[in-house]
Amino acid sequence: KKRIPFFAGNWKMNKGPSETERFVKELATAIVGDEAVFGAVKANEIEIGVFPPFVSLERAKSAIESANALISLGAQNMHWEDSGAFTGEVSGTMIKETGCQYVILGHSERRHIFGETDDMIEMKMRKAIALGIKPVLCVGETLEERDKGMTESVVEGQLKEAFKALGTPQTFEIGIVIAYEPVWAIGTGRKASDEDAQRVCAFIRSFLESNFDSHVAQAVRILYGGSVKPDNAMGLMSQQDIDGALIGGASLDVSSFIGIIKNGM
Ligand code: G3H
Repeated sequence: KKRIPFFAGNWKMNKGPSETERFVKELATAIVGDEAVFGAVKANEIEIGVFPPFVSLERAKSAIESANALISLGAQNMHWEDSGAFTGEVSGTMIKETGCQYVILGHSERRHIFGETDDMIEMKMRKAIALGIKPVLCVGETLEERDKGMTESVVEGQLKEAFKALGTPQTFEIGIVIAYEPVWAIGTGRKASDEDAQRVCAFIRSFLESNFDSHVAQAVRILYGGSVKPDNAMGLMSQQDIDGALIGGASLDVSSFIGIIKNGM
């Protein structure tokens, strides 16, 4: 593939600092100990990333560094202001200081459980890019929207909003990642078919082509997320427009996370 496959583990609200340290050590040992996987990571042929809760980021960072395992680090969310009276929030400058290269923005759980709007996500996108943090922008339709045949229009609407003020192809040089996560496939064990996932990821690429340019469309990595497991990783990853996976449940266990990477790479 032209693009470097990205296997990203979104831990959601799992693993505090101690468990994070243990897990990262175990994961690092598994990566470094597997010649094919570590060789590919070192050669920049695949990328592996973890997205722990805020309070575990620092511990993850130091465990990654001391293991020399070349694991990327990201946060699951951030606020769009640098500081201020926003009780309970964490800013992009803070996660950057903690060592995050990435931040997940607009995850469906943020949109649906916590009421994040397209406007909020758009402000976060702009802030992350201004700080040099690579956004992993999540888009995806609900089951109801899918049943009404609205998948593409919903995804297009979310993309339009998120990129509203990011008018130029240069914006993408930072390495923006997009994750297509059908809401009905998240945590349900009901993965989208390879064909459906490919169709929507190709649609996202064509959106980038028509709204930015073909270089952007070819360079941006588009991940699929929603019930990715070791036994379905190969089919997904062999699709032309799928460049990796955003993995929830199956990333919480070293052997299933590594299983996805090995079967998907
Ligand atoms: O960000 C990850 C997704 O929400 C997928 O979660 O793999 O548990 O279905 P899942």
